[in-house]
Amino acid sequence: MMTTLQYGTPAKIFHWLIVALLAVQYPIGWFMPDIHPGMSPGAGMTFHLSIGMIILALTALRLLWRLTHPVAPESALPTWQRLSSEAVHWLLYALVLATTITGWLFASFRGWSVSFFYLVPMPMLASGNAAAGRAIDGLHQAMEWALLITIGIHIAAALAHIFVYRDRVMQRMLPG
Ligand code: HEM
Ligand code: HEM
Repeated sequence: MMTTLQYGTPAKIFHWLIVALLAVQYPIGWFMPDIHPGMSPGAGMTFHLSIGMIILALTALRLLWRLTHPVAPESALPTWQRLSSEAVHWLLYALVLATTITGWLFASFRGWSVSFFYLVPMPMLASGNAAAGRAIDGLHQAMEWALLITIGIHIAAALAHIFVYRDRVMQRMLPG
């Protein structure tokens, strides 16, 4: 397996596609109606679950791609930046997976049957289980906030590389 010095086109497409999907997914999550016992999922929830499944699938593929196509950190960076950026990157992968899987579990425990964009029935991870639903309640929200905070740190670091360090780190994730 060869470690390359730059991100390739597939890595960049995965990165920006998932950024775009998350930028849609958070507002849908916040603006869709609050859930209450006995409700069935409406359009907002159907889109939230469908887009969430795409984010999960793309992140799993992206992680596989990344593990089989290692990319070296920018060599000009001091050790603490290399280590901390790698740590934040793996945390981002872990939190996207944790957010999508807790959401999927939560929807499953409510006993919902949801169609992926109203097209095909979505597989559920478990059958309806009110006690399990109560136990996992809040976990999806905790993960989604932890992810948002980590994304904030990640974007702050990108801005610091553009405006403070003025190095080529941002260019590594841009086309060309
Ligand atoms: C990374 C992807 C995802 C993000 C960023 C995300 C974000 C959110 C947000 C912001 C809310 C609103 C929570 C609140 O009121 O504060 C929410 C709720 C919800 N999401 Fe997600 N979600 C994602 C993936 C999923 C997936 C894959 C599923 C299911 C297949 C799902 C199922 C739910 C359910 C059932 C709720 C309502 C229950 C609750 O408020 O905890 N989500 N999500
Ligand atoms: C405007 C927002 C964003 C900017 C400007 C940005 C910028 C960047 C840059 C420049 C890199 C390369 C860092 C390096 O070479 O060491 C990178 C990597 C990465 N970004 Fe972002 N990013 C943004 C949003 C996000 C979001 C929302 C996520 C959440 C999933 C994310 C996840 C990642 C991951 C996981 C990597 C590491 C890729 C790998 O090595 O496998 N980014 N980002």
